[in-house]
Amino acid sequence: MRGRILEILRAGGAEPVSGEELSKRLEVSRTAVWKHIQALKAEGYDIESVPKKGYVLKAAPDRLKPAEIITHLKTKWLGHSIHYVESVDSTNNLAKRLAEEGCDNGLVVVSEEQKGGKGRLSRGWFSPFACGNWFSVVLKPPFLPQEASKCTLLAAVAVVKAVNKYKGVNAAIKWPNDILLNGKKLVGILTEMSAEFGKINYIVIGIGINVNVPHSIVPDDIKDCAVSVADAAAEPVERVQILADVLDNLEELYESVLQNGFAPVLAEWRKYSCTLGQQVKVIAPDETYCGLAVDIDEDGLLVVKKEDGTTEKVIAGDVSIRPAAGTGKYA
Ligand code: BTN
Repeated sequence: MRGRILEILRAGGAEPVSGEELSKRLEVSRTAVWKHIQALKAEGYDIESVPKKGYVLKAAPDRLKPAEIITHLKTKWLGHSIHYVESVDSTNNLAKRLAEEGCDNGLVVVSEEQKGGKGRLSRGWFSPFACGNWFSVVLKPPFLPQEASKCTLLAAVAVVKAVNKYKGVNAAIKWPNDILLNGKKLVGILTEMSAEFGKINYIVIGIGINVNVPHSIVPDDIKDCAVSVADAAAEPVERVQILADVLDNLEELYESVLQNGFAPVLAEWRKYSCTLGQQVKVIAPDETYCGLAVDIDEDGLLVVKKEDGTTEKVIAGDVSIRPAAGTGKYA
C-alpha cells in the first residue's frame, strides 16, 4: 500500500495529489490514506501536505525501506516479502532464523548495516551503514542438496548483470561467486543451506554489494582490494535501484533454471567469468596446487588442468588467479 502511495506521489511530481484521489485509486478510506502518509513521514519521507490540495513527495530517505524497494521491483514473487532492519549482526543469520520459522520462498532480508557481516571461509564482511546493499534471499528450490551451488552461480550472474548497467562498471565473476572490478572486490556472495537427505529445506543467498562505500572508511587490511560501484561511476549511485535489479534478474534466472535447466545460466556465467582460461592457484582443504582453469561443469564445479596434465574438479576452497608474468601475487 505504501509503495503504491509513493508511486502515485512520484508520478504527480510537484503537483499535489489529493487524499480523495489516493483513497479512490487505492480503494481505501481517506483516514487510511492519512495514516499511511503519517507512517511514511515517520520513515523519513519528506511529504508536504498542501492545504486543500493534497500531498507532494519532496524527498525520499536514502534507506532501503521495503516501500522503496517495492516501487522499483518488477518481480512476480521474489522480494514481495521484505524484512527490513536498520542494523543486524548478519542478514544471513536473520534470514536463516526466519526460514526456520517457515518464511515464504523469496523472502528478502535487508539491513542498512551489519555488525558481524560474514564472508566466505570464515572471513568477515565490512558492511557500514547506508553505504551498500547487504541483503539475503531465502529460496526453497526443488534441487538436490548437491546442486545447491547452482544458486550461487545464478546469483553471481544476477548481480554482475545488475552492476554492469552502471557507467564505467565492467565487472566479472571470479569462481565461484566473487564479483571483481579491475581485480578488486565489488561484491561477495555467501550461500548457506539447510538440507536433509535428498531435499533442500532452504537456501540463503547472502549478497554484499559495495555501492557507495567511501574509500576513506574502508579498513586498512582491505583498502587495496575493495572497490565500490560509485568509484567506477565517479558519482554516488542509487542503492535501491541496484537491489531491485538484482532481485529482478535473480527471479528471471531462477525461473529459467526451473523451466529450461541450468545450461543457459552456465553459458551466461562463462560469458562473465574472469577465471576461465587463467592460470590459477587452488588452496583446497587438503592440498594446494596450480593449473589452468579450463571450464565449469554442469554442477558449477571449476575444472582445473593441473601442471602434471591431470584434471581436477574444485568443489570448495580458495582460488586465486595468477597475475600477468612478474607482477607479484595472485588476486
Ligand atoms: C565473501 O566472502 O565474498 C562473501 C561475502 C558475503 C557478504 C554478504 S553481505 C549480506 C550477507 N550477510 C552476511 O553476513 N554475509 C552476506
